[in-house]
Amino acid sequence: MNRLQARARWKYYAGAGGTVAIIGLLVALGSGSNDSFSRGRNAEGKPSLRLGQALYGQHCASCHGANLEGQPNWRDGLPDGRYPAPPHDQTGHTWHHDDDFLFRTTKQGGQATAPAGFLSGMPAFEATLADDEIWSILAFIKSRWPADIAAAQASKNARRR
Ligand code: HEC
Repeated sequence: MNRLQARARWKYYAGAGGTVAIIGLLVALGSGSNDSFSRGRNAEGKPSLRLGQALYGQHCASCHGANLEGQPNWRDGLPDGRYPAPPHDQTGHTWHHDDDFLFRTTKQGGQATAPAGFLSGMPAFEATLADDEIWSILAFIKSRWPADIAAAQASKNARRR
C-alpha cells in the first residue's frame, strides 16, 4: 500500500467510525429521553410525588423556599424591576393559575407567561427538566395544598376544557 492508498483507507475508516459514532449518539439520545420520560412517572403512570419532592428541593427550593414559603417580602418589587420568588403554598398565587400556565411558566420561564412589559425573575427549566419531571414537581406542590385550595385550582383546569 502506498501512502496515498493508506490515507484513502484511513479516511474510509474515519468516515465509517464517524457514522457509527453518530448512530451511537442518536441511540443514546433516544433512550436518554425515554429514561427521563419514565423517570417522572410512578408505576401507575401518574406523576411521581417522591421524585417531584426531590426535584423541587434540587431546582426550586433555593428561590421558592424549602417549605414552599417563597422569598421574604415577595409582593414588593426589587430595584431591578423584578419581583422575589412567591410562595407555592396556599399563601401565594400559584393556585390561582391553571395547570397549563404553571407548566409553561416552569418549562419556558416566567417571561413566557408574563404580561407585556413585565420583567420576570423566573428562569426556564426546559434545558434541565423533562416534561414529566416538571409535572411531577407540580404534583408535589399541589399535594401540599389544603383540599379547598386544591379543588379551587383544579376547577380552573376543568373550565378551560
Ligand atoms: C432563581 C430563582 C428561581 C428558581 C430557582 C425558581 N423560580 Fe419559580 N419563580 C421565581 C420568581 C422570581 C417568580 C416570580 C415570577 C415573576 O415575577 O414573574 C417565580 C414564579 C414561578 C411560578 C409562577 C407563580 C405564580 O403564582 O405566578 C411558578 C409556577 C414557578 N415559579 C415554578 C417554579 C418551579 C417549579 C421551579 C423549580 C423547577 C422554580 N420555579 C424555580 C424564581 C425562581
